[in-house]
Amino acid sequence: MPDRVLRAIAQPTIDHRGSAFAALARDVLDGLQRVFQTSEPVVVYPSSGTGAWEAALVNTLSPEDTVLMFETGHFATLWRDMASRLGLRVEFVAGDWRHGVDPRAVEQKLTGDRGRTIKAVAVVHNETSTGVTSRIAAIRQAMDAAGHPALLLVDTISSLGSIDYRHDEWGVDVTVSCSQKGLMLPPGLGFNAISAKARAAATSARLPRSYWDWEPMIKDNAAGFFPYTPATNLLYGLREAVRMLMDEGLANVFARHQRFGEATRRAVSAWGLEVLCANPEEYSDALTAVLMPAGHDADAFRRIVLQRFDMSLGAGLGKLKGQIFRIGHLGDFNDLMLAGTLSGVEMGLAAAGVPFTRGGVTAALDSLVDVRSVHL
Ligand SMILES: Cc1ncc(COP(=O)(O)O)c(C=O)c1O
Repeated sequence: MPDRVLRAIAQPTIDHRGSAFAALARDVLDGLQRVFQTSEPVVVYPSSGTGAWEAALVNTLSPEDTVLMFETGHFATLWRDMASRLGLRVEFVAGDWRHGVDPRAVEQKLTGDRGRTIKAVAVVHNETSTGVTSRIAAIRQAMDAAGHPALLLVDTISSLGSIDYRHDEWGVDVTVSCSQKGLMLPPGLGFNAISAKARAAATSARLPRSYWDWEPMIKDNAAGFFPYTPATNLLYGLREAVRMLMDEGLANVFARHQRFGEATRRAVSAWGLEVLCANPEEYSDALTAVLMPAGHDADAFRRIVLQRFDMSLGAGLGKLKGQIFRIGHLGDFNDLMLAGTLSGVEMGLAAAGVPFTRGGVTAALDSLVDVRSVHL
């Protein structure tokens, strides 16, 4: 987290029914629309990302509605579990956790749904558990090609503010996100960006909802207020984080992450290791998941890196436990931080006795220093 954000959060908590708060809320809500690249309402819950997932489902769907979901990894699986627990029918397309959502599969499924029973397609944009990014614009095109009226719900929890994402242009109905990744904040804020079509669907959606109901939020937000106590100090931080993103310019933010993704993948390849993502069109610029050579435990390696270098690598989640480690390169991150991170990985591989070829860090530095990769 940047110091600017931490200092902003450290301001006194003001009356959330007063005019100073209304000015803060308006700033934050306007700024968020720019980050989501939308002119539609964005609501902010005091919640983690899981709450924002639930809000997207309960506002738009009714018991026993069918939702089309794709097994891209651990988080897509958890979202599926939530949908089932809420009483939805989930058509879950199996996946190998190395690929994103195939737009052709979306088109096929929707074309085959002649009775129009599928009410929503729910996709995780950037699978944090695998480092695979699904192509949302192509998925939208596939839905249009099928001429199907299902809503498009997208989880951008680890892509927003790091990887290009366009709520309006890509025709997304509900974009789900939260505070603790590309927005460089502590956990505690969940977001939904809401299309007019999704808002209209909410008028007849019958899943029970109260805390997550969009309408009281949107109504009170219009005057700069919330229907219940907002996370005031996180909103100070959010205002600062949005300013930072806007000062840099979203295009530059995305280009910076692309450079980090590219440099990291070059390091992995020079080490002779394998990136988990199997489709170069779907490489994540927010994080890179790396397969451990057979016979080596990724968690033992991660423990050594933590003990020796005080650096925490991401664990393999769900069925990838022990098989991969994840290098995060998103948020308040620069070239030298990436160089340090990759040095920690390279030293850790040596310390853990993992077979690898030296030179990954050098390959990454060459990539970072290449002027063609620098957005001036
Ligand atoms: C892609 C994705 N979706 C959903 C979640 C769940 O969010 P939270 O843990 O904030 O509830 C996460 C958390 O890391 C995530 O990465």
